[in-house]
Amino acid sequence: VIDIAKLYAQAGLFTYDPAFTSTASCQSKITYIDGDAGVLEYRGYPIEQLAEKGDFLETCYLLLYGELPTKSQKFDFDQRVIHHTMVHEQMTRFFQSFRRDAHPMAVMVAAVGALAAFYHDSTDINDSKQRMIASMRMIAKMPTLAAMAYKYTIGQPFMYPKNSLSFAENFLQMCFAVPCEDYEINPVLAGALDTIFILHADHEQNASTSTVRIAGSSGANPFACIAAGIACLWGPAHGGANEAALAMLSGIGTVDRIPDFITRVKDKNSDVRLMGFGHRVYKNYDPRAKIMQKVCHAVLDETGHGDDPMLKVALELEKIALNDQYFIDRKLYPNVDFYSGITLKAMGFPTSMFTVLFAVARTVGWISQWSEMIEDPQQKIGRPRQLYTGAARRDYVDMADRK
Ligand code: ACO
Repeated sequence: VIDIAKLYAQAGLFTYDPAFTSTASCQSKITYIDGDAGVLEYRGYPIEQLAEKGDFLETCYLLLYGELPTKSQKFDFDQRVIHHTMVHEQMTRFFQSFRRDAHPMAVMVAAVGALAAFYHDSTDINDSKQRMIASMRMIAKMPTLAAMAYKYTIGQPFMYPKNSLSFAENFLQMCFAVPCEDYEINPVLAGALDTIFILHADHEQNASTSTVRIAGSSGANPFACIAAGIACLWGPAHGGANEAALAMLSGIGTVDRIPDFITRVKDKNSDVRLMGFGHRVYKNYDPRAKIMQKVCHAVLDETGHGDDPMLKVALELEKIALNDQYFIDRKLYPNVDFYSGITLKAMGFPTSMFTVLFAVARTVGWISQWSEMIEDPQQKIGRPRQLYTGAARRDYVDMADRK
């Protein structure tokens, strides 16, 4: 690798690449994507194999430590995560200060940032033990906070984590159980959720991960960095796309209205986009979308939504777009968000929780990338340059001399 940036800096030059379309911001050993071939690997393991054979906490271990755990390492890791699932009881009062109709992503940005105030014994980034405790806390507490954000908006009591359950089971329990009734976990839904978490666990230097890295490069504490990542993920061009894709499918409504919608997407004067389609890196089918489509079918069959009109619209829309020259020329294929909205809706999650679930899964990716950066001896504060296009030097005019 030629360090072009260093050579340019020595020569007093810099490159102009506003959306980082061709600029690598770091070296990383965590996730590999071949966008042209539609390949995604975590630490060298294909996403298809991890989704089929692994579980989410094993994926967390892999992303954090670089290797699949042995049996005893896996047991130990699960126990360490379980140990941290509760949040400080005073956090419940923090939640009470929000309006009931607050978007749960707004609550999550604040709640995760606030963790630094509750767990300041794991904010020293120069101490590797504190960094690891912060990582465990983030992975373990995100589902608890996410479920609290949900319960708060619907006016139900918070459910404490149950440590006899798996990561996905526990999340379902904290979201959907109520203290006055027994709650039976559906294993198909728990399995589907676990797979969804695996699919979203990391995706190299996307917008939110780059945000976490750049926030962390200043030495900010890990909770603040993850809060920054959550804020970035919220946007509709990133994690908010599944919510937007579902709104689009429901807006189209029926299969016969698809051609009209496609015409609007292709109209250069409209700002309508086919949500859940296209990707900065994948110029082929997003491998996660293929797995998500299978998960979607399994969940809809299990929940009796197999004939959901939105699924019909999605399948037909995909078929039409994949054979349309506009999408072929621009290499636009379904991304992971195309089917995730329908799936999560069938599982019982409201649309406002979709991006929150994404954040729960992506936390391990953010934390792994943050740790890799902190441990890199070449790590420096991230500081992009700019191409100044403003006014040339001019002299201040006293107020008395202005019109
Ligand atoms: N629908 C219609 N046209 C599209 C779409 C789309 N979803 N995506 C890109 N295009 C077109 C653009 O209009 C442009 O056409 P032009 O060359 O005629 O001007 C061309 O394809 C290139 O588009 P860019 O915006 O330059 O591509 P970029 O790589 O910057 O954008 C992005 C990637 C933001 C994901 C885009 O494809 C998009 O907006 N998709 C919809 C939102 C979405 O699904 N986001 C989720 C991404 S995955 C994730 O975060 C988990």
